[in-house]
Amino acid sequence: MGNAPRGNFDFIVVSNRLPVDRIPASEGDGGWRRSPGGLVTALAPVMNKADGAWVGWHGAPDEDLAAFDNDGMRLIPVTLSSDEVEQYYEGFSNSTLWPLYHDVIAPPEFHRTWWDVYRRVNHRFADAAAHSAAQGATVWVQDYQLQLVPRYLRQSRPDLRIGFFNHIPFPPPEIFAQLPWRRAIIDGLLGADLIGFQRPNDTANFLRSARRFLGASVKQKQVHVPTPDGEMSHIARAEAFPISIDVEHIQTLARRPDVIERARQIRSDLGNPTTILLGVDRLDYTKGIPHRLKAYGELLSEGKVKVEDASMIQVASPSRERVETYRMLREEVEGTVGRINGQFDTIQNTAVRYLHHSYPVEEMVALYLAADVLLVTALRDGMNLVAKEYVAARVNNTGALVLSEFTGAADQLRQAMLVNPHDIDGLKETIMAAVNLSPAAASRRMRAMRRQVLDHDVERWSQDFLVTLDEKAVRDDR
Ligand code: G6P
Repeated sequence: MGNAPRGNFDFIVVSNRLPVDRIPASEGDGGWRRSPGGLVTALAPVMNKADGAWVGWHGAPDEDLAAFDNDGMRLIPVTLSSDEVEQYYEGFSNSTLWPLYHDVIAPPEFHRTWWDVYRRVNHRFADAAAHSAAQGATVWVQDYQLQLVPRYLRQSRPDLRIGFFNHIPFPPPEIFAQLPWRRAIIDGLLGADLIGFQRPNDTANFLRSARRFLGASVKQKQVHVPTPDGEMSHIARAEAFPISIDVEHIQTLARRPDVIERARQIRSDLGNPTTILLGVDRLDYTKGIPHRLKAYGELLSEGKVKVEDASMIQVASPSRERVETYRMLREEVEGTVGRINGQFDTIQNTAVRYLHHSYPVEEMVALYLAADVLLVTALRDGMNLVAKEYVAARVNNTGALVLSEFTGAADQLRQAMLVNPHDIDGLKETIMAAVNLSPAAASRRMRAMRRQVLDHDVERWSQDFLVTLDEKAVRDDR
């Protein structure tokens, strides 16, 4: 223990995905593109300002790659075989942990072989970080795919300052209890000095599980972690750090003439309807897309919205397409969209413009500017950065945000029009209230939300986390 070879980097981010993904040969030239998801969006600006390295998977199975520089960042790829992609990524991460941590919306599957591969791959990520980290470096591990990395790192490199941030919800112990490896996961996380969660509720859930399943002694937010021989190893601190977005970047785009022009173009391509409603999600069963479509379909049936006056755009970016629950969701969503459009479209107008694509951020901001109402109806979501991006883009204080109370963002965006997406009648009423919101009321709400978002951008999030990690280390050294 403690004798692993060392590297030169003082700051290392470790996440399942690198900030760039290999473009598959079938879709292009085998070059690089930005990875999907909120994590990269949140961390890329932090890394651009730090002189550090990023350890992660580059999205292509069975490809060994040497470390390389991209966009001013040192990237250290971790290789995963096809079998590991199946068992660690599609299996344990996305068919066991993801559904378990999101209120069991889909049934989690428990397979011992997946767990073995999850452990093995977590070891590999920890080794890659250990080999790159300088003496006393800070290593910041990200998300549910890598919950054992803090423990493995502490074992091989006790000199490191280790942070962990969980981007998704942490479930209550009553649900977490189902996991056959619950003790090992809690113990893995407790290898960190600081464990960050999105909401105070997630933190409380984690601390209750640490007490219940490991018998840990918890005082306030501190967990006293014993070594196997009963000595005190260290104190792990758990705390909420709600993540945010690069507000300045979104605002700059929202003011750019070509982006404003593109928004105007989108409206005119749709026939300049009075109202455009927008949904933007990874195509994931946690996002409540069927609930949103059901509510919207009923409003059309009842004549409360008319296809001549209103259009809904649903961007559903492709995600985890080899996982069965995601395939089933796609069938369901596309079937529903087809039925709604078949019933309500005219030659001129379309009820739901469904786009199964990912778009660059410029196009996303144009969509945010074009939309009068953003619909976020997630059944459970760690944060939901789309809601924050919409608010950041609405520089004129216009627009309405319908926001599920089951998102982390609902803790901060209190002036959104909050909904319980399971309550279809309530959702329909809220959508209508958003469509008919007076400009004065919309502006009041948007101003208040914008103050919140402008004041809490992603840089502040990472600073808060890293300063807390530093202060804790200084206290522990005394
Ligand atoms: C969520 C997770 C991220 C993940 C992203 C995209 O935001 O918190 O860890 O990277 O989804 O999912 P994918 O499976 O494509 O990485």
